[in-house]
Amino acid sequence: MTGTPAHPERTPVPERFDRIDLAALPDDFLWGTATSAYQIEGAVAEDGRSPSIWDTFSHTPGNIDNDDHGDIACDHYHRTAEDIALMRRLGTDAYRLSIAWPRVLPGGDGPVNARGLDFYDRLIDALLAAGITPSVTLYHWDLPQVLQDRGGWPERATAEHFAAYAAVVAERLGDRVTHWTTLNEPLCSAWIGHLEGTMAPGWRDLTAAVRASFHLLLGHGLAAQAIRAAVPGAQVGIVNNLSTVRPASDRPEDLAAAHRMDGHTNRWWLDPVFGRGFPADMRSLYGVDLPERPGDLTTIAQPLDWLGLNYYFPATVADASDAPVPYVHSVRRGGVPRTGMDWEVDAGGIESLLLRLTEEYAPRKLYVTENGSSYPDVIRPDGTIDDPERQDYLVQHLAACASAARKGAPLAGYFAWSLLDNFEWAYGYDKRFGLVHVDYATQRRTIKGSGHRYADIIRRHRGRAAEAA
Ligand code: FCB
Repeated sequence: MTGTPAHPERTPVPERFDRIDLAALPDDFLWGTATSAYQIEGAVAEDGRSPSIWDTFSHTPGNIDNDDHGDIACDHYHRTAEDIALMRRLGTDAYRLSIAWPRVLPGGDGPVNARGLDFYDRLIDALLAAGITPSVTLYHWDLPQVLQDRGGWPERATAEHFAAYAAVVAERLGDRVTHWTTLNEPLCSAWIGHLEGTMAPGWRDLTAAVRASFHLLLGHGLAAQAIRAAVPGAQVGIVNNLSTVRPASDRPEDLAAAHRMDGHTNRWWLDPVFGRGFPADMRSLYGVDLPERPGDLTTIAQPLDWLGLNYYFPATVADASDAPVPYVHSVRRGGVPRTGMDWEVDAGGIESLLLRLTEEYAPRKLYVTENGSSYPDVIRPDGTIDDPERQDYLVQHLAACASAARKGAPLAGYFAWSLLDNFEWAYGYDKRFGLVHVDYATQRRTIKGSGHRYADIIRRHRGRAAEAA
């Protein structure tokens, strides 16, 4: 990573991904779906759960489209059996879920709430009974509000509390769960939560954001140690949302802007975890002293069993000295299809990221831990939902994943975002990412065309694997 960056790329990848090379995926490839606690569970005041920063943030008027919140969400807390039955109908063999920290430790660091932990204990048992491998994420953004009141992620103590919470969960579930994720997308917690302010806790403060980023990664390292101490043979990873970053033009200013954006989005979150420390160019760009103590970098760089990639869309950026850190603005490319989120559809981006991670960081294994698309769904008179655009997105991105695997990426699984339509953070319920439609008035679930398509792809891959055996 010295001299002229090999990435970001100069030109878009002009491939079309319309056929999935299933033979490129290993026979034991994990086919999964993903969700997160606050987005689906509801039951926010039940069985001793305390509020998280997302309860506070979503109940602050103006933060969320339509002032939506997660109080009921998909009511998954009361519908786990039905939702696991849906996973079985899709034919998936893995499920990525997250644990709500404020259910397990309502005081943040205090005594364990047995009823909260029991919920996850039963959920894990039910998944295993259905033949579905649970992949457990410890932190998908729902920090207990009590810890926010004590300073939140900008404070070192939060990382230490996170490790203690990780130990509690790992000790209870570790006899049955081997796949563990410490953090989901720490970039969003730090940059969107503390710098841009459009996610909880809603701050706009560079110093706090940089400190939060450091303590999140420290928390990751400490939690990885805690999980391994409790669970022999645990497979521990971290999940990042990374972006292919392209310069808007060949001007040196735009090339430099793309390199800064790459640092902000990708290298800041990868380099320290892979033992390279925090990128020097970004440290000087932020100009904030890291709250680093001796040994912290070693803690952060715990060896990983796997790396998780969440990919949705690429970025194209131009230099903008008047914009906030990292002094870029996003450029809208013309003639590119977009999802209902107004995000570019570019399957080449996931392939190039998987290959870049393989070449530059050499992870033992890669999982696509999230990938999916939101479109406004149309319910036909007969109640079915055909979603051709989501199906195209799914097929193209799986084709790109298989292509990366063919070229050597150690890709071991794919988790579609999401099993269900759910609470899409600041966008509320209008944005629907599910393979399964949720009617929020009745909580009725309906498998969409994309869900059936996914089931068919899984079946075909299994058929091939069985034939090969
Ligand atoms: C990711 C989040 C996930 C979901 C998708 C659309 O950034 O991890 O919870 O909201 O985006």
